[in-house]
Amino acid sequence: MSSDTTPSPRRIEVIGIGAGSPEHVTGEAAAALAAVDVFLVADKGAAKDELVEVRRAICERWIPAEREYRFVTVPDPKRGPDADRDTAQYEKGVRDWHAARTDAYVAVIEALPPDAVVGFLVWGDPAFYDSTIRIVDAIGERIPTTVHVVPGISAFQSLAAAHGIVLHRIGEPIHITTGRRLVDQWRTAGAAGIDLGTVVVMLDGHLACQDLAASDPDALIWWGAYVGMPQQQLRSGRLGDVIGELIALRAELKARHGWVMDVYALRRP
Ligand SMILES: C[S@@+](CC[C@H](N)C(=O)[O-])C[C@H]1O[C@@H](n2cnc3c(N)ncnc32)[C@H](O)[C@@H]1O
Repeated sequence: MSSDTTPSPRRIEVIGIGAGSPEHVTGEAAAALAAVDVFLVADKGAAKDELVEVRRAICERWIPAEREYRFVTVPDPKRGPDADRDTAQYEKGVRDWHAARTDAYVAVIEALPPDAVVGFLVWGDPAFYDSTIRIVDAIGERIPTTVHVVPGISAFQSLAAAHGIVLHRIGEPIHITTGRRLVDQWRTAGAAGIDLGTVVVMLDGHLACQDLAASDPDALIWWGAYVGMPQQQLRSGRLGDVIGELIALRAELKARHGWVMDVYALRRP
């Protein structure tokens, strides 16, 4: 008699939970949340505990009380000093970090009951500046999986709604980038006469737009921190007029809360 020892695929739900407000959770995300047995959450240290708490609050808000589930925190491997690295070193650093994270997740998943549904709660939308889908793909190369991705409201959608704006002028493009690349792309495009349209900047720990304030003081900025969360802050105006306030406010918020997440849209006048 032969027996089939191939394990059945592990079901993984990658769930976009929106950018911080429990009210961002869509109907599809709520249904996926209620199907998960074990949520895997990266442990990023004490300063980010609040972000884990937001995730717990979302589960409490949307998962029926009688449904049992648990959180397993997975220590996040240390990441190198990104700011000191050139682009090639930075990209290698991120790849190494992803590999270390994949090892950690595979070890945790392999120890779970075979039929436990695993969930990843992804901030905003999994398609924008988030490595979860790449890591889940890498997990799938090591153990059989079936993966379902649920979209979420991204920080920049939430920013546009909070300011009550359309992100682009009629028919114009939107360019989404990181603080790391903003200045180079803005200047290179400007010199080549390429219209980037509205530039949305995420992952900017240093308000890179301050380096454009002297050359482009008339650019318009719509900025938001903790958008959609109780501590939300919004500012907008001419870059040259508001940059000083933004630098001071960002530093003050970081000192007060221990962390800050901000996003902005920038447009030539
Ligand atoms: C790792 S990326 C994740 C983006 C996410 N996947 C999304 O779709 O919004 C984190 C960046 O998103 C932005 N961000 C996320 N949530 C935010 C919020 N509530 N308010 C302001 N910016 C936010 C910040 O630029 C932050 O550096």
